[in-house]
Amino acid sequence: LRRVRTHHLRQWKLEGHKWAMLTTYDQYTAAIFDRAGIPVLFIGDSAANNVFGYESSLPVTVDELLPLVKAVSRTARRALVLADLPFGSYQRSPEQAFDTAVRFMKEGGAHAVKLEGGVEMAPHTALLTDSGIPVMAHIGFTPQSEHSLGGYRVQGRGDSGQALIDAALALQDAGAFAVVMEMVPAAVAAEITRRLHIPTIGIGAGVECDAQVLVWQDAMGLREGRAPRFVKRYADLAGIIGSAATQFADEVASSTFPAPEHSFED
Ligand code: KIV
Ligand code: NA
Repeated sequence: LRRVRTHHLRQWKLEGHKWAMLTTYDQYTAAIFDRAGIPVLFIGDSAANNVFGYESSLPVTVDELLPLVKAVSRTARRALVLADLPFGSYQRSPEQAFDTAVRFMKEGGAHAVKLEGGVEMAPHTALLTDSGIPVMAHIGFTPQSEHSLGGYRVQGRGDSGQALIDAALALQDAGAFAVVMEMVPAAVAAEITRRLHIPTIGIGAGVECDAQVLVWQDAMGLREGRAPRFVKRYADLAGIIGSAATQFADEVASSTFPAPEHSFED
């Protein structure tokens, strides 16, 4: 079982082999997704919403994310383990980004980090990659900038498409090994995918990206309620777990559980 490396992702782009990335924040889903052949396991700052119960990704801290990164990196045998740098932990300077990324690599055991932003993140990306830290870029709608972008909106429509292309090229030049594109028109994402030699990973960016990423609780229906347009539900875990909990409670109430086989004799 060979470890997935960034050069494999580059090779897959050349071969036209598309791949999937999932978030994961704990040992069991990490083990399941690793065995399922998901090559990149991603501890997103979306743990803010999907683990910690915050309203947005802004409040989550490095100290909160680190134990999740450790759990995944202890578990993953084949996958490349990618950690997200949370809001406020890297934007101030390339040096701040370096310090935070080093914590995720040394303490967390991550193999690479992801950070949000366009051309303004090129110096940060360059320092990290020059220091031996693989960086995945993230452009288009970047949730940490929700308040400056004016809410959840598609980015790169019309004239702003060119700025997105320029950002992708600048981040590639700075050394990024891949770039996430979130909520970008499919045609713009396709153009960027053609122009770059590093892989693009789409989330709400159409089918022509080299890879796709989803938050696992969205993709598997653990999270209930309305999901964004770009989410597809592949399972109904909330339904499965909910009815299991109800059945357990019913069987306790009716003295059906525990049965003799769950009990010990004298
Ligand atoms: O934190 C996250 O889940 C992300 C996405 C790209 C899915 O950044
Ligand atoms: Na994120």
